[in-house]
Amino acid sequence: MSRAIHIPEGLRELLQDFTVEVIRNQPRDICDFALQYFADLKRRKREEKGQALKSSYEAMMFASDEEDNDEEFVVSAETYDPDNDEENREPTVIHPKTDQQKQRLRGVCKDILLFKNLEQEELSKVLDAMFERPVAAGDHIIEQHDDGDNFYVIESGIFDVYVTDNGVTRLIATYDNHGSFGELALMYNTPRATTIIARTLGALWCLDRVTFRRIVVNNNAKKRKMYDAFIQTVPLLSSLETYERMKVVDVLCPQQYTDGQRIIAEGESADCFYIVESGEVRITVRRTTEEGEIEEVELTTCTEGQYFGELALVTKKPRAASAYAVGNVKCLVMDVMAFERLLGPCMEIMKRNISNYEMQMANVLQSASNSRTFSDVATA
Ligand code: CMP
Repeated sequence: MSRAIHIPEGLRELLQDFTVEVIRNQPRDICDFALQYFADLKRRKREEKGQALKSSYEAMMFASDEEDNDEEFVVSAETYDPDNDEENREPTVIHPKTDQQKQRLRGVCKDILLFKNLEQEELSKVLDAMFERPVAAGDHIIEQHDDGDNFYVIESGIFDVYVTDNGVTRLIATYDNHGSFGELALMYNTPRATTIIARTLGALWCLDRVTFRRIVVNNNAKKRKMYDAFIQTVPLLSSLETYERMKVVDVLCPQQYTDGQRIIAEGESADCFYIVESGEVRITVRRTTEEGEIEEVELTTCTEGQYFGELALVTKKPRAASAYAVGNVKCLVMDVMAFERLLGPCMEIMKRNISNYEMQMANVLQSASNSRTFSDVATA
């Protein structure tokens, strides 16, 4: 006697919808796409049921809630559950600080992009929860594959970032007395992506996992809602998968500029990349006139959806041009580490654009003494 196979209600529609999305998006990695697709679906379902998730990261993490074995999504550290009232009620731990410590902490945190979005009250809670950690040369701050405990802001010291892959360890980046790290494992509930070792004596400010997730991750979820639609219209990012674009949104920080304000200064060292959210930005370069005077001339302008500030990050040279706001301008800003980590797939488009820069420069600079070359990067 044959037994009828029970097909769960909704399975056919679920798979049909998913198949349509796969065909429409032609993802490079179908597994990643599936993870994201079903995470989004689950989030929408929860929202429909009036159980809106506080953090859209939870949607990304539902795979781990379900104890998925994919290494990228395994969670062995405790997770922040926005629906868990007890944890929500738990007061944030306060680490008392002297006035001098508070001043130093505010100083190092003022340029941390992940904090820029926070309301004043949220930022105060974050600063209260942070604690100082002196570092000796050779200290291992983070070990690749460990669970994420803290987010770190650098006050001083040089920190090397290593990745071990197939038994081979490579130095992939260095933080030089500036910046922050350790956000990824906390944001995405993933194991640590790299090992970070202090090369010199230094000092770090640490923020515990629970406070980071409760305040910074929760705040980032609001940012996703605000910028998801805009980011889809940015031509540079069109080659990214949906989940890659979401990661881009997570690290973007909105900044506003007023008419004439200088956003980038020619000759300075570079640590940020910019996408114009609204308004217009003039890109200018200094040239020497025949009389030997220095004047600033316009190379081009960037408007909504366009980007600037990538050249120096790609060439690892000082800024080749300045950027000024024309009227009120809003930009979305990304730091160099995130740029390198997330925008690799857009490099071809950027390089094509970089080869146009030489032409623009040649047009306005017109003499050999003024000439610049970037094509080695564009063709590399
Ligand atoms: P996390 O994975 O929590 O811990 C290791 C940290 O290294 C990671 O967060 C980032 O903050 C930092 N990092 C720096 N460069 C990279 C990179 N190229 N890829 C991944 N993580 C990086």
